[in-house]
Amino acid sequence: MGWSGAGNLQFRNQTMQIKDHVFIVTGASSGIGLSTAVALADRGAKVAVLARSGDALQKLSQQLPGSLPVTADMTKFDRVREAVGAVYQHYGRIDGLVNNAGRSYAASVEEIEPEVFDEIFHLNVLGPIIAMQAVIPVMRAQGGGSIVNINSGTAFMTIPQYSVYSSSKRALLGFSLTARAELEKDRIVVSEIYPFITATNFGKNRMGNPANGAPSTHYADGDKPEFVASLVLQAIAEGQAQYFANDRLRKMAGVAG
Ligand SMILES: NC(=O)c1ccc[n+]([C@@H]2O[C@H](COP(=O)([O-])OP(=O)(O)OC[C@H]3O[C@@H](n4cnc5c(N)ncnc54)[C@H](OP(=O)(O)O)[C@@H]3O)[C@@H](O)[C@H]2O)c1
Repeated sequence: MGWSGAGNLQFRNQTMQIKDHVFIVTGASSGIGLSTAVALADRGAKVAVLARSGDALQKLSQQLPGSLPVTADMTKFDRVREAVGAVYQHYGRIDGLVNNAGRSYAASVEEIEPEVFDEIFHLNVLGPIIAMQAVIPVMRAQGGGSIVNINSGTAFMTIPQYSVYSSSKRALLGFSLTARAELEKDRIVVSEIYPFITATNFGKNRMGNPANGAPSTHYADGDKPEFVASLVLQAIAEGQAQYFANDRLRKMAGVAG
């Protein structure tokens, strides 16, 4: 078993190995998820890479020894359950889940379309919950595991046009911290990462009127996705509750540095 610790179920005394362990990374076809999958594979992990873009996953998988491409839409909950089942069937274990797939939506409160609201909350909140529900019994039976949810600094901000996105991430914060407390007894550690603006396709993939919100080019000047991936690996290794891309976000969250 890849877990070591003081035996008293204290999160901070636990570490989880990465080499030869099995991780699912959602949203692995681009950006932070892709960088995380590469970083995990570089450390010897077996990575199941999940997203909707099957061709991109096939291509990525050819570069990552021992990886498994899994095409799935995180808003289709039965498919998420099936996908986790397929990963378990393939590897016979699941040690980590990185809930990374997510999108933004630029619309004022006055303009919010219920269908898009539903899609964002399905992708950013319920999809991660369903994926957690699917891996928890496997991890419990194995004696532990690591779940890392990719949140956003916007969870602590009020930004015109971004209420749906920031509210979805605030909801993810609540579910993550509660799951962390609930799963401590099972040695399943739930951590969260709070990226700041990161240079990925996130701005380009934003839903809503392209004229709304921050320009997508603004993301090009952000942190590198590899930096966020390094925080994910740190979270897996250390298992603290929250990891922030910078001190500004840490202060906004009211967490001592
Ligand atoms: N970039 C930033 O500035 C920033 C800042 C804070 C937080 N974040 C968070 O970081 C996470 C990753 O975003 P990113 O910056 O790497 O953006 P990205 O480059 O747009 O990547 C998003 C990933 O999510 C996948 N995805 C989107 N909809 C999906 C669906 N319905 N089902 C399955 N996969 C889906 C995409 O793959 P397919 O299209 O192939 O499905 C893609 O792999 C998100 O949770 C985001 O909220 C990003």
